[in-house]
Amino acid sequence: MKILRFSDLVEQGRVAGRRVFIRADLNVPQDDAGRITEDTRIRASIPCIEMALAAGAAVMVTSHLGRPTEGEFKPADSLAPVAARMSELLGRPVPLVSDWVEGVSVSPGEVVLLENCRVNRGEKKNDEGLARRMAALCDIFVHDAFGTAHRAEASTYGIAQFAPLACAGPLLAAEIDAISKALSNPKRPLVAIVAGSKVSTKLSILKALAAKVDQLIVGGGIANTFMLAAGLPIGKSLAEPGLVDEARAITEMMKARGAAVPIPVDVVVASEFSATAPARKIAATEVQPTDLILDIGPRTAAELAGIVAQAGTVVWNGPMGVFEFDAFAGGTRTLAAAIAHSVAFSIAGGGDTLAAIAKYGIEGDIGYISTGGGAFLEVLEGKTLPAFEILEKRATG
Ligand code: 3PG
Repeated sequence: MKILRFSDLVEQGRVAGRRVFIRADLNVPQDDAGRITEDTRIRASIPCIEMALAAGAAVMVTSHLGRPTEGEFKPADSLAPVAARMSELLGRPVPLVSDWVEGVSVSPGEVVLLENCRVNRGEKKNDEGLARRMAALCDIFVHDAFGTAHRAEASTYGIAQFAPLACAGPLLAAEIDAISKALSNPKRPLVAIVAGSKVSTKLSILKALAAKVDQLIVGGGIANTFMLAAGLPIGKSLAEPGLVDEARAITEMMKARGAAVPIPVDVVVASEFSATAPARKIAATEVQPTDLILDIGPRTAAELAGIVAQAGTVVWNGPMGVFEFDAFAGGTRTLAAAIAHSVAFSIAGGGDTLAAIAKYGIEGDIGYISTGGGAFLEVLEGKTLPAFEILEKRATG
């Protein structure tokens, strides 16, 4: 993908004294008191800001937080907690600026955080007037918000159309590089792990991946639907019987290419969804009408770990079972360990997947951990994200 990178502009000495507008994704989870409960996205935004400051730019950063009503700022929408955390991480003050669309006062070597950009009227609909006013604030627009790369909003898309220069920040560039390495030109075999509760929410991903991967490992409720499609009993487990034909079609698509969707040979069941429910490890053929499948069994996990061990590339989205309950965590733990030990290039994304990675402490053993939720899923669907499209257009047009 041919895009302009902010690091190239820095190397070329084109940033000193310039007004740089960075769109980051600082949409972090908060508790009821507004305290940040997980700050990965803030930490991931720091290298771009430091790069701009070190190059002598006047730096403006903004992000959305939540889904506020445009034109109606409420204290809960404020980026104030983010400004405080960012200030700790940068070791310098990060003033928070409200009502910034008509002008921002910031000098070279300084950074300011511009209040929640989704409170501006016209942001979501990518209003041209708003986008042009934001573009007028800067000499260089830096898109560094991979988590929001699937949205075409005024601060992510319109501004990139109208700013004098539009480029990708280091985080967005790293995400682009990792995605290209995993999906455009992967080392084979390419193995995708797609798990989670429902086939329906991931159907288009499964179809898109079935056309390119060598093994499609399904887990969670998705695996239950594939078991049903294979004629196996699933008791009262979560599944989507209406999508059995789709599951069969995906299996056939894979078979036609000499690839496969492995079906569990054993499972871990309980009679209720609870952390304390007694767990039974049984063959997939022995599931009773009163059973709930809450994890893949150890034989299946070992078989899937063997597939991962042979892989050249692994794409991972979704846990294999209810890993939050220890009795049903074995499948996810075994796969996580297999990915961590594998020499394959691995890319992982999605909230539950990141929680599993954190639980097993394997952050350092994954090739790339995406900061995208919805954006990562859209990439897996094979969609071209608006951020990539507009930056490519600006680089070549
Ligand atoms: C996310 O959390 O996935 C991104 O910040 C995008 O948020 P959105 O779904 O509200 O656009």
